[in-house]
Amino acid sequence: MTDKIRVVLSSDHAAIDLRQAIAAHIQTMGFEAIDIGPTTTESTHYPKHGEAAARMIAKGEADLGIIICGTGQGIMMAANKVHGIRCGVCHDTFSAAMIRAHNDAQMLAMGARVIGEGLALEVVDAFLKTAFEGGRHATRVDMIKAIEA
Ligand code: RB5
Repeated sequence: MTDKIRVVLSSDHAAIDLRQAIAAHIQTMGFEAIDIGPTTTESTHYPKHGEAAARMIAKGEADLGIIICGTGQGIMMAANKVHGIRCGVCHDTFSAAMIRAHNDAQMLAMGARVIGEGLALEVVDAFLKTAFEGGRHATRVDMIKAIEA
């Protein structure tokens, strides 16, 4: 058992290197990285990788998730189809902090063909270091949950 925050990572073929760099980075930050691949650059389908990571969070097998495809958009759309999941695409640190603080997002999506590794790691830091503020934001997140219910 570990008391570390568990972060699941997945990607498609467009983002293997960036995903692995993020996994190594967040381990140095004290998070547990659960990297579910894939490990080769063979062409694959982003929906199954977004879904797999999202389902781990929905089942309580991970606390947060970072998912990456070429743009971040497709893998985000797939993750958001899993009940209870809130995932946003962010390529700037302000948005990455706000999806935690205001939207209580469990998942961050990025595009490896959009963002360089240096900024991507800063975006990850902003996402992981920010807590949900609750209050009026909880009311609004509850409204999102009600749409699903
Ligand atoms: C794969 O070529 C590409 O479509 C995928 O990585 C992603 O950008 C989809 O949203």
